[in-house]
Amino acid sequence: MSKIKIATTKYPVLDIIKKRWSARAFSDKQIPEEELHTLFEAASWAASANNEQPWQYMYAHKGTPGFDTIANSLLPGNQPWAKNAAVLIVAIARKTFEANNSVNAYSIHDLGMANAHLLLQAHAFDIYCHTMAGFDKVKLAEEIKLSENQEAVCVIAAGFLAVAETLQEPFKIRELTGRKRKNINEFTFKL
Ligand SMILES: Cc1cc2nc3c(=O)[nH]c(=O)nc-3n(C[C@H](O)[C@H](O)[C@H](O)COP(=O)(O)O)c2cc1C
Repeated sequence: MSKIKIATTKYPVLDIIKKRWSARAFSDKQIPEEELHTLFEAASWAASANNEQPWQYMYAHKGTPGFDTIANSLLPGNQPWAKNAAVLIVAIARKTFEANNSVNAYSIHDLGMANAHLLLQAHAFDIYCHTMAGFDKVKLAEEIKLSENQEAVCVIAAGFLAVAETLQEPFKIRELTGRKRKNINEFTFKL
Protein backbone atom coordinates (compact mmCIF):
# COMPACT_ATOMS: atom_id res chain seq x y z
CA MET A 1 0.00 0.00 0.00
CA SER A 2 1.24 3.44 -0.89
CA LYS A 3 2.51 5.11 2.31
CA ILE A 4 1.52 8.48 0.83
CA LYS A 5 -2.07 7.91 1.98
CA ILE A 6 -1.27 7.35 5.65
CA ALA A 7 -2.27 10.39 7.68
CA THR A 8 0.55 12.40 9.24
CA THR A 9 -0.79 13.56 12.57
CA LYS A 10 0.41 15.92 15.25
CA TYR A 11 -1.32 13.96 18.03
CA PRO A 12 -1.34 10.18 18.71
CA VAL A 13 -4.35 9.25 16.58
CA LEU A 14 -5.18 5.52 16.39
CA ASP A 15 -3.32 3.66 13.64
CA ILE A 16 -6.51 2.33 12.09
CA ILE A 17 -7.76 5.90 11.62
CA LYS A 18 -4.47 7.03 10.12
CA LYS A 19 -4.51 4.17 7.63
CA ARG A 20 -8.07 4.48 6.33
CA TRP A 21 -8.42 6.20 3.00
CA SER A 22 -10.81 6.15 0.07
CA ALA A 23 -9.30 3.82 -2.52
CA ARG A 24 -10.28 3.50 -6.18
CA ALA A 25 -7.98 0.73 -7.42
CA PHE A 26 -9.57 -2.60 -6.52
CA SER A 27 -8.17 -6.07 -7.17
CA ASP A 28 -10.14 -9.14 -8.34
CA LYS A 29 -9.98 -10.73 -4.89
CA GLN A 30 -13.43 -11.39 -3.46
CA ILE A 31 -14.43 -10.49 0.11
CA PRO A 32 -15.43 -13.57 2.15
CA GLU A 33 -19.01 -13.32 3.44
CA GLU A 34 -17.73 -13.82 7.01
CA GLU A 35 -15.58 -10.68 6.74
CA LEU A 36 -18.50 -8.69 5.33
CA HIS A 37 -20.64 -9.83 8.23
CA THR A 38 -17.91 -8.60 10.57
CA LEU A 39 -18.06 -5.16 8.93
CA PHE A 40 -21.83 -5.03 9.36
CA GLU A 41 -21.60 -6.14 12.96
CA ALA A 42 -19.02 -3.40 13.61
CA ALA A 43 -21.48 -0.93 12.07
CA SER A 44 -24.21 -2.20 14.38
CA TRP A 45 -22.19 -1.20 17.44
CA ALA A 46 -22.29 2.50 16.54
CA ALA A 47 -24.12 4.88 18.84
CA SER A 48 -27.53 6.08 17.69
CA ALA A 49 -30.28 8.34 18.97
CA ASN A 50 -32.56 6.31 21.27
CA ASN A 51 -30.57 3.21 20.16
CA GLU A 52 -32.83 3.26 17.10
CA GLN A 53 -30.11 1.81 14.84
CA PRO A 54 -31.68 3.43 11.78
CA TRP A 55 -29.14 1.96 9.34
CA GLN A 56 -29.77 -0.67 6.72
CA TYR A 57 -27.33 -2.10 4.20
CA MET A 58 -28.14 -3.74 0.86
CA TYR A 59 -25.10 -5.24 -0.78
CA ALA A 60 -24.05 -7.33 -3.74
CA HIS A 61 -20.89 -9.13 -4.83
CA LYS A 62 -19.27 -8.41 -8.18
CA GLY A 63 -20.61 -10.65 -10.94
CA THR A 64 -24.19 -10.68 -9.66
CA PRO A 65 -27.26 -8.88 -11.08
CA GLY A 66 -27.57 -6.93 -7.82
CA PHE A 67 -24.04 -5.60 -8.24
CA ASP A 68 -24.82 -4.46 -11.79
CA THR A 69 -27.96 -2.69 -10.56
CA ILE A 70 -25.95 -0.68 -8.03
CA ALA A 71 -23.01 -0.09 -10.39
CA ASN A 72 -25.34 1.17 -13.14
CA SER A 73 -26.71 3.84 -10.79
CA LEU A 74 -23.25 5.37 -10.22
CA LEU A 75 -22.38 8.66 -11.86
CA PRO A 76 -19.58 8.87 -14.46
CA GLY A 77 -17.01 10.09 -11.91
CA ASN A 78 -17.49 6.91 -9.90
CA GLN A 79 -18.56 4.11 -12.21
CA PRO A 80 -15.26 3.57 -14.10
CA TRP A 81 -13.40 2.50 -10.94
CA ALA A 82 -16.19 1.46 -8.56
CA LYS A 83 -17.38 -1.23 -10.98
CA ASN A 84 -14.16 -3.10 -10.11
CA ALA A 85 -14.96 -3.25 -6.38
CA ALA A 86 -15.56 -6.69 -4.89
CA VAL A 87 -18.76 -5.55 -3.20
CA LEU A 88 -21.04 -2.53 -3.54
CA ILE A 89 -23.04 -1.60 -0.45
CA VAL A 90 -26.03 0.75 -0.41
CA ALA A 91 -26.17 2.54 2.95
CA ILE A 92 -29.78 3.32 3.78
CA ALA A 93 -31.33 5.43 6.53
CA ARG A 94 -34.72 4.48 7.97
CA LYS A 95 -36.28 7.91 8.39
CA THR A 96 -38.79 7.34 11.21
CA PHE A 97 -38.69 5.78 14.67
CA GLU A 98 -40.01 2.21 14.76
CA ALA A 99 -41.96 2.79 17.98
CA ASN A 100 -44.21 5.66 16.86
CA ASN A 101 -43.40 6.51 13.21
CA SER A 102 -42.29 10.04 14.14
CA VAL A 103 -39.46 11.56 12.12
CA ASN A 104 -35.98 10.65 13.32
CA ALA A 105 -33.97 13.82 12.65
CA TYR A 106 -30.76 11.91 13.42
CA SER A 107 -31.18 8.98 11.04
CA ILE A 108 -28.59 10.18 8.51
CA HIS A 109 -26.22 11.25 11.27
CA ASP A 110 -26.47 7.82 12.86
CA LEU A 111 -26.05 6.03 9.54
CA GLY A 112 -22.83 8.03 9.13
CA MET A 113 -21.65 6.84 12.53
CA ALA A 114 -22.31 3.23 11.53
CA ASN A 115 -20.56 3.74 8.19
CA ALA A 116 -17.49 5.06 9.99
CA HIS A 117 -17.38 1.90 12.11
CA LEU A 118 -17.76 -0.22 8.99
CA LEU A 119 -14.93 1.57 7.17
CA LEU A 120 -12.54 1.32 10.10
CA GLN A 121 -13.34 -2.35 10.76
CA ALA A 122 -12.69 -3.01 7.07
CA HIS A 123 -9.10 -1.89 7.51
CA ALA A 124 -8.50 -4.66 10.02
CA PHE A 125 -8.94 -7.03 7.04
CA ASP A 126 -7.05 -4.78 4.60
CA ILE A 127 -10.36 -4.14 2.89
CA TYR A 128 -10.54 -0.63 1.45
CA CYS A 129 -13.80 1.25 1.14
CA HIS A 130 -14.86 4.31 -0.80
CA THR A 131 -18.07 6.13 0.10
CA MET A 132 -19.94 7.76 -2.76
CA ALA A 133 -22.82 10.21 -2.93
CA GLY A 134 -22.45 10.31 -6.71
CA PHE A 135 -25.24 7.99 -7.79
CA ASP A 136 -28.76 8.33 -9.15
CA LYS A 137 -30.78 8.10 -5.94
CA VAL A 138 -34.18 7.97 -7.60
CA LYS A 139 -33.21 5.27 -10.08
CA LEU A 140 -31.49 3.11 -7.46
CA ALA A 141 -34.36 3.48 -4.96
CA GLU A 142 -36.78 2.29 -7.62
CA GLU A 143 -34.65 -0.63 -8.69
CA ILE A 144 -33.94 -1.95 -5.21
CA LYS A 145 -37.55 -1.21 -4.20
CA LEU A 146 -37.03 1.16 -1.31
CA SER A 147 -40.09 2.43 0.54
CA GLU A 148 -40.85 6.10 1.25
CA ASN A 149 -39.34 5.53 4.67
CA GLN A 150 -35.95 4.42 3.34
CA GLU A 151 -33.34 6.82 1.96
CA ALA A 152 -30.33 5.53 0.04
CA VAL A 153 -27.75 7.98 1.42
CA CYS A 154 -24.57 6.66 -0.14
CA VAL A 155 -23.00 3.70 -1.89
CA ILE A 156 -19.82 2.17 -0.48
CA ALA A 157 -17.39 0.39 -2.79
CA ALA A 158 -15.34 -2.21 -0.92
CA GLY A 159 -12.50 -4.47 -1.95
CA PHE A 160 -8.83 -5.32 -1.69
CA LEU A 161 -6.29 -2.94 -3.11
CA ALA A 162 -4.75 -3.11 -6.58
CA VAL A 163 -1.89 -0.93 -7.79
CA ALA A 164 -2.79 2.60 -8.90
CA GLU A 165 -1.49 1.79 -12.41
CA THR A 166 -4.65 -0.24 -13.00
CA LEU A 167 -6.60 3.05 -13.06
CA GLN A 168 -7.12 5.49 -15.92
CA GLU A 169 -6.62 9.22 -15.39
CA PRO A 170 -7.92 11.30 -13.67
CA PHE A 171 -8.38 8.55 -11.09
CA LYS A 172 -4.78 7.31 -11.08
CA ILE A 173 -3.34 10.64 -9.95
CA ARG A 174 -5.90 10.83 -7.13
CA GLU A 175 -4.76 7.40 -5.97
CA LEU A 176 -1.18 8.64 -5.80
CA THR A 177 -1.79 11.97 -4.06
CA GLY A 178 -1.43 12.40 -0.30
CA ARG A 179 -4.38 13.30 1.90
CA LYS A 180 -4.80 16.68 3.58
CA ARG A 181 -6.86 17.89 6.50
CA LYS A 182 -7.58 21.21 8.17
CA ASN A 183 -5.60 21.90 11.30
CA ILE A 184 -7.77 21.35 14.39
CA ASN A 185 -7.52 25.04 15.27
CA GLU A 186 -9.51 25.81 12.11
CA PHE A 187 -12.58 23.92 13.34
CA THR A 188 -12.38 23.77 17.13
CA PHE A 189 -13.25 26.67 19.37
CA LYS A 190 -12.71 26.67 23.10
CA LEU A 191 -15.53 28.57 24.82
C1 LIG B 1 -20.95 11.15 2.07
C2 LIG B 1 -19.74 11.04 1.20
C3 LIG B 1 -19.89 11.12 -0.18
C4 LIG B 1 -18.79 10.96 -1.03
N1 LIG B 1 -18.99 10.93 -2.39
C5 LIG B 1 -17.95 10.65 -3.20
C6 LIG B 1 -18.18 10.44 -4.58
O1 LIG B 1 -19.30 10.46 -5.09
N2 LIG B 1 -17.08 10.18 -5.36
C7 LIG B 1 -15.82 10.11 -4.84
O2 LIG B 1 -14.87 9.85 -5.60
N3 LIG B 1 -15.59 10.26 -3.52
C8 LIG B 1 -16.63 10.51 -2.68
N4 LIG B 1 -16.42 10.62 -1.33
C9 LIG B 1 -15.08 10.40 -0.78
C10 LIG B 1 -14.44 11.71 -0.36
O3 LIG B 1 -14.09 12.46 -1.48
C11 LIG B 1 -13.21 11.40 0.53
O4 LIG B 1 -13.64 10.77 1.71
C12 LIG B 1 -12.44 12.68 0.87
O5 LIG B 1 -11.87 13.24 -0.28
C13 LIG B 1 -11.33 12.42 1.87
O6 LIG B 1 -10.46 11.43 1.39
P1 LIG B 1 -10.11 10.15 2.27
O7 LIG B 1 -11.42 9.42 2.55
O8 LIG B 1 -9.18 9.32 1.40
O9 LIG B 1 -9.45 10.62 3.52
C14 LIG B 1 -17.50 10.78 -0.48
C15 LIG B 1 -17.35 10.70 0.92
C16 LIG B 1 -18.45 10.82 1.74
C17 LIG B 1 -18.27 10.67 3.23
